[in-house]
Order: sequence, then C-alpha cells, then structure tokens
Amino acid sequence: MILSIESSCDDSSLALTSIQECKLVFHQKISQDSYHSRYGGVVPEIASRLHAQQLPQILQELKNFLDGNLEAIKAIAITTEPGLSVSLIEGLMMAKALALALNLPLLSINHLKGHIYSLFINQKTIISPLSILLVSGGHTMILEMSHSQIQIIAKSLDDSFGESFDKASKMLGLGYPGGPIIQELAHDAPSLYTLPIPLQHSKELAFSFSGLKNAFRLKTQEKDYHPNALAKAFQESAIAHIYQRCKLYFQHKQSQNQSIQHFAIVGGASANLALRDKMHQLCQDYQATLLLSPLEFCSDNAAMIGRAGVESYLKGEFASLYELDISPRTTQF
Ligand code: KG4
Ligand code: ZN
Repeated sequence: MILSIESSCDDSSLALTSIQECKLVFHQKISQDSYHSRYGGVVPEIASRLHAQQLPQILQELKNFLDGNLEAIKAIAITTEPGLSVSLIEGLMMAKALALALNLPLLSINHLKGHIYSLFINQKTIISPLSILLVSGGHTMILEMSHSQIQIIAKSLDDSFGESFDKASKMLGLGYPGGPIIQELAHDAPSLYTLPIPLQHSKELAFSFSGLKNAFRLKTQEKDYHPNALAKAFQESAIAHIYQRCKLYFQHKQSQNQSIQHFAIVGGASANLALRDKMHQLCQDYQATLLLSPLEFCSDNAAMIGRAGVESYLKGEFASLYELDISPRTTQF
C-alpha cells in the first residue's frame, strides 16, 4: 500500500491506497474551515499549527486501523507543490520522519496532478488522452494529459474561479469557503442583476475573474442590494465565462481536426452543480464524455494523492529523502 499525505492548504488528510488494485483502503480528512471562516480566507499560520496537531491525530487512527501492521506500507506519497509553504512543510516533515523511521521511499506529488487523479480513485484504468478543466481555490486552468504528461493550455490571468467565490462571500460578510455559500444563495434567487462576463469579446484562451469581482463589489456598495440575487448574477457570469473559454478551446481543437473524447472537471470548485450542468451541455454539443470526481473527492484530500502516488511508484519515480523540498508554485508538471 501507499500511505499518502495532503496538507497543501487547509485540509489535513491521510490515506492508504492498494498498489495492485488502486483501492482506497483508508481515508481520513480533517477540514479547518471553521477556524478560517471568520477571517474570510485561509490564515497561513493557523493552517500550519492545525496541521501540526491534526496530522499526528490522523496518523494514530491509521496506525490503529492497520493494527500495527506498518510493513504493508511500501512508500510515502507527499504533496510537495503547489500550496501554502507553511502548510506543505508540515506534511513533508511527517513524510520524511515516516520514511526515515520505516525505511521507505518517498514519492513527491504535485497537488494539481492529484486533483486529476481524483477521477481514478478506486479504479485501475487511467483515461488518456484527457482534456481537463481544473477549478480550485488557487488555480483555474485547462490542461491536457497524455501518457501521464500534463501540459498547461490556458490559465487565469489573475484570480481563480474558487477564489472569486471566496471573495464574493467575504464581501457579503459571509464565511469561508465561499463556493458552497454563494451556490446556496444563488439557488432559487430572483434575477435582478446582470454582471459582466470576463473576456467576452476576446479570442484569448485565458481566464480572468478580477473584473467580475470588482463589478460585484460595486453592487455591494449600493443601498439595499439583494444578496441572493447578486450571488446568482455573480455565479451566472463566472460560469458563463468558464463555458465560453472552454467552448473556444473545443473550437480550437476542432479547427485543428482534433476531437476531444474525454473532458474532465476537477478541483474543489468542480463541486459546483450549476457549473457541472453547464459543462455537461457543452460536452454534449461536442460529443465528448464528461468525467467528474465524486463530490467527496473534489476538495483537497489524500486519496487523490495516493492514487497519483501509485502511478509514480509503478514508474519508480522516487524522491531523495534529503533533497526533497516544497515549492509554493507550479511552473510545470
Ligand atoms: O481544491 P480545493 O479544495 O483547494 C485548493 O486546491 O485550492 O478548492 C477549494 C476552492 C475554494 O475556493 C472553494 O470556495 C471552492 O473550491 N468551492 C466552490 C464550491 N465548493 C468549493 N466554488 C464554487 N462552487 C462550489 N460549490
Ligand atoms: Zn486543491
């Protein structure tokens, strides 16, 4: 089995994944949402201190689960990038201590790659080539994966999709994470406002959310605004933007005589139901099969890191105990 650790942001999580069958054998996650909520975003120092408390707590549970049979573990997979450095380092130190104590190899896993592998938890087959929309709190990207090589096709010029929901929620004086809060407010809300759709007249394959965020902010400064209707207008524009950029991507591929057979949406914000619906339509229009992770594996978790870890293990991509380091940003995969 692979023991995997995820601590790149505000979720502490450990998992065990079988190498042969890719089955998720153990999975535990402690979310820190309630600690960060009042600040409207993740406070790095709080996140780091909570990882230091919670990771050992979950490790104890995992030890109990294995009933002391630690020899079943063949490698430690650890998220090393991208993320908050003070959070990443907590997981890395635990991974190194375990690798040293149990004499096991380390596997360094990119968090975004982990999100892609959330599609394949509990299944052996990897679908490839695959086009991917990644929407999380830190990133908004279109990626292509082929033979486990990942290429960045498009990315955000400023804020990410999930982050824009977090900021919108904060501007309404509501909690963190903002995604589920805005989605809930928007549900059954009246249509009273229209907000601009970013880059609407541009042919650039890129994302942008800062203009929409500012338009939203200006509305919240009006007297007696309707928060639910505003949340609805915000969600509609943000999703329309994603839809239009992805449609442009499908058109580009078509113009190069390349069809997309499989299109996936991954990352914490892929839990958004209105986004799922809209992208389902787009995939139908282009005869592509839409792949989604189960809702429980959309947000950060160690199960996806373990699944990506199995791939790395089978390829023998082991990391050096002394040299392995964290990196807050991803430049390439
Ligand atoms: O992947 P994730 O758990 O953490 C990062 O890697 O960043 O994604 C968290 C992000 C947050 O910004 C959160 O507000 C957003 O995903 N999110 C959503 C929804 N659920 C979570 N955004 C929009 N709609 C949702 N239903
Ligand atoms: Zn994530």
